[in-house]
Amino acid sequence: MALDYSILSSICVGIVCVQIIHIVLPWLYANIIGPTFFGPKINLCQMGAWAVVTGATDGIGKAYAKALAKKGINVILISRSLSKLEAVAKELTDAYKVQIKIIDIDFKDGPQIYQKIEKNITGLDIGVLVNNVGISYLYPEFFIEYITRYPQFLRDIISVNIHSVTNMCGLVLPNMIAKKKGVIINVSSFFAVIASPLLSVYSGTKAFVDKFSEDLQTEYQSQGIIVQSLRPSFVITNMTHNLKLNLFAPSAEVYVDSALKTVGIAGKTNGYFPHALLALFAYLSGNYITKIVHFKEFLRIKSLLSKSEKEI
Ligand SMILES: NC(=O)c1ccc[n+]([C@@H]2O[C@H](COP(=O)([O-])OP(=O)(O)OC[C@H]3O[C@@H](n4cnc5c(N)ncnc54)[C@H](OP(=O)(O)O)[C@@H]3O)[C@@H](O)[C@H]2O)c1
Repeated sequence: MALDYSILSSICVGIVCVQIIHIVLPWLYANIIGPTFFGPKINLCQMGAWAVVTGATDGIGKAYAKALAKKGINVILISRSLSKLEAVAKELTDAYKVQIKIIDIDFKDGPQIYQKIEKNITGLDIGVLVNNVGISYLYPEFFIEYITRYPQFLRDIISVNIHSVTNMCGLVLPNMIAKKKGVIINVSSFFAVIASPLLSVYSGTKAFVDKFSEDLQTEYQSQGIIVQSLRPSFVITNMTHNLKLNLFAPSAEVYVDSALKTVGIAGKTNGYFPHALLALFAYLSGNYITKIVHFKEFLRIKSLLSKSEKEI
């Protein structure tokens, strides 16, 4: 009996050690040790004269465009609304004296949009690509109810969240490979890996982005390319209905400032320490508690927001 207990306790200690090695140590490096002591590891200005940011007129994309322009990098802004693009372009040229190019396309449209983008970026020395554009549900909802109410949704979300990422990588990678340097930041989501019932299609598209980024990084790291998958939790933007800021839900500027310090340090990152803490808790609890809490919470949000949607 005594022997059984000692075997059992050795197994428990073994499991804890494996958890520490596989989860806690990489987490510590990616979120505290790396950014604090070794970051920023990459000088983005040395990657090339230009950066491309998709979904660049608001939220996280605009914050990336601003942060890159502030470093002196010229930026190509890609978004839907021409007037918003022109306004952001003016804001950045006035503030940072860099060159800005704008491309107005709707990522919901077909493959022809990539010909327009290609035409506009050919010949430019692109060192950084931020695949940021993304759409989500208007409110959390059961799969069948949502696609019945919004029949275009499945096609749109796959075009915007998945096709944009793969096509943009296809456009910029050949030149990055030729010059043996470049950074691609693909904006995935916390929900790619954390339970997110009632947002199943959104989280599925973000899981695609996460996995695609990981394997792309393995394919091209020997050629000097960095591919990062960014997994933000809540950041206060239009997508999150511009809720109140708090420690766990920062502004896009605060979030991006923090996330940029992880480039070259973490291939997959929450990009912001409080978000990484939430992720660590979810991993260590096996996602069970998160599943229950998120389902309950999203049901509550669904009943609030779906009502207001009906009034529109
Ligand atoms: N906010 C969060 O809490 C959070 C958390 C995890 C992941 N993310 C991800 O972060 C990324 C940015 O989110 P955000 O919160 O910053 O969003 P946001 O504030 O809603 O901004 C979205 C940007 O994308 C553009 N856009 C939207 N649909 C487009 C389309 N069909 N074609 C071209 N441009 C389009 C918008 O341009 P217009 O102004 O013209 O519409 C805007 O510039 C997304 O991929 C999102 O999934 C966000």
